[in-house]
Amino acid sequence: MDPNPSELGPGFTALIARSEAALEHALPPAAADPGRLHTAMRYAVLGGGKRLRPLLVYASGSLLDAPLARLDAAAVAVELIHAYSLVHDDLPAMDDDALRRGRPTCHVAFGEATAILAGDALQALAFGHLARDGALDVDVATRLAMLGTLADACGADGMAGGQALDLAATGGTLDLAALERLHALKTGALMRASVRLGALAAGADAAALRALDDYAGAFGLAFQIRDDLLDVEGVTATLGKTAGKDAARNKPTFPALLGMDGARQRLDEVTAQALAALASFGARAAPLAELARHAAGRAH
Ligand code: IPE
Ligand code: IPE
Ligand code: MG
Ligand code: MG
Ligand code: MG
Repeated sequence: MDPNPSELGPGFTALIARSEAALEHALPPAAADPGRLHTAMRYAVLGGGKRLRPLLVYASGSLLDAPLARLDAAAVAVELIHAYSLVHDDLPAMDDDALRRGRPTCHVAFGEATAILAGDALQALAFGHLARDGALDVDVATRLAMLGTLADACGADGMAGGQALDLAATGGTLDLAALERLHALKTGALMRASVRLGALAAGADAAALRALDDYAGAFGLAFQIRDDLLDVEGVTATLGKTAGKDAARNKPTFPALLGMDGARQRLDEVTAQALAALASFGARAAPLAELARHAAGRAH
């Protein structure tokens, strides 16, 4: 197998379609009031996106024999959170981006106020969906653990905290440890939550949770190093988002700190760490391994 496949294999196609359908079902209808908010929420979520976080939920839960129907709620919840984070990340007060998933960003299409509310509502919908989805046939304690996991990943010790560190560091310099912490929160926290939610739904034991968390931490770092590299060497048409924005805005990134070769080397190291963390699962972890190679080698 290509060690760095830029496209995911056919095994993932059905899972992407599955998460697409589950997201469509969870979102409020455009025709219902308030229609403009609903339309903006649907715009931000549907019709684009690689759905890597849902794939992590499915791959981790399936590794531990959870049926797919039990994993849909977590897959939907993490992608709703991700979509909300992108809407807010693109706002003029944050990265001020006009292009996302090959289309105008949510605030360009619907105005800033509606985009802010769409993000707010998507976040709430994620928690409501995970709290109530009937196909998530786990006991109440497990469901509460899942809700807490998602909350931790979104908040000040997770994605929002990472975004705050990103904004605070913009224009300045960080050392490697500080940059990796920023990335671990900004991007890694939701990746780790995705893997953990799948594992919790499957009733994973402590050893499996630990190994999967090691995998997911390294995965998240690899994913964001690749995102930083793509911002430098990718082209806007392929990325579906504007290339070159990090340097233009003086963002703290791996290429800025280590150079392109140094960033690539660190990417190889953390990808190897992600793969090594799967050793105890043997060949059954092949889908998670493929996802890690993809995160490191993807072209968009
Ligand atoms: C982009 O995430 C934002 C980061 C966390 C770096 P993705 O590359 O997963 O974006 P989509 O969902 O495929 O558009
Ligand atoms: C976004 O990171 C992280 C979150 C949305 C939490 P970036 O700002 O690097 O993502 P892109 O490059 O705009 O997709
Ligand atoms: Mg950003
Ligand atoms: Mg951004
Ligand atoms: Mg980026």
